[in-house]
Amino acid sequence: METERLKHIVSAEQFTSPCLIERIFKRAREMRFGVEHGLCDQTLKSRVMGTVFYEASTRTRFSFEVAMLRLGGGVTGTESAGHFSSATKGETLEDSIRVIGGYVDVIVLRHSECGAAARAASVSPVPIINAGDGDGEHPTQALLDLFTIVEEIGDPKGKHVVFVGDLLKGRTVHSLSHLLDLAHARMSFISPRVLRLPQELREKLAMRGLGIFEGERLQDVIASADVVYVTRVQKERLEGIEGVSLDGSDYCLKPELVASMKPSAIIMHPLPRNNEIPISINADPRAAYFRQAQNGLYVRMALLEELLPPRSRRKSAHL
Ligand code: NCD
Repeated sequence: METERLKHIVSAEQFTSPCLIERIFKRAREMRFGVEHGLCDQTLKSRVMGTVFYEASTRTRFSFEVAMLRLGGGVTGTESAGHFSSATKGETLEDSIRVIGGYVDVIVLRHSECGAAARAASVSPVPIINAGDGDGEHPTQALLDLFTIVEEIGDPKGKHVVFVGDLLKGRTVHSLSHLLDLAHARMSFISPRVLRLPQELREKLAMRGLGIFEGERLQDVIASADVVYVTRVQKERLEGIEGVSLDGSDYCLKPELVASMKPSAIIMHPLPRNNEIPISINADPRAAYFRQAQNGLYVRMALLEELLPPRSRRKSAHL
């Protein structure tokens, strides 16, 4: 069944339609096949994507740019918009987006303020993709995370997903928990008290789905986990919350904890990691975080196509 097309991607809460998610994942699998066999269709030829990043990025920016290039489109933008755009001259985000939207066909925006993507979408003449807005959301990461879970362990319905680390400021957790809630997964949230889920999100999740468990001891839940989703402390967003470091703590995935995990479980991390997953874990086949990052390319290819459906041909007489 054909579902309504997306205009912008601002929040994971937009993905309430299982048909839409299934369509994106099906296309992502086709994209993976295309990339692996050198058979990508040039479906976005003559389209241009603008990447406007006010915050640092490795995976998100590279995977979006490569996604567009692999589909035959062009890419422009700035990886340091706070320094190299008219923001330095006092231009508002809204004005910048209106102007850039006149040049490109889609804008991928990363910003340090929660709500920035929604503000941009409210004025943009072209689709906005939220590539992370402060401690708000990161919906395309959530889609690639869900895709990874489906590919690695199957339907998340009834599966136990344990989130650990900085759940307060970690935007990937905020977005993925919405999708897993809709998919009827069981979720546990393990963190020190100062890094618990934001109140508003806790209330939303508690009201829906299977209910949630919050605790402070990873060792109590890890043996029943199907997915352990580890996050780093978002130091850049924790001003005013003093002395939060999880280094060496029980929130790090020490080898003895990994030893108690099910053989079929997987370890995920949006990356970058600090010390919360030791390098030695990379060799464990359950370590899925690099496969997860790779999936970002295929899911973002599918999302770009979803937002930019093929143009109807214009007759030269109209030009
Ligand atoms: C995350 C982000 O930027 O929110 N990284 C990513 O996009 N893969 C996670 C993080 O920075 O900790």
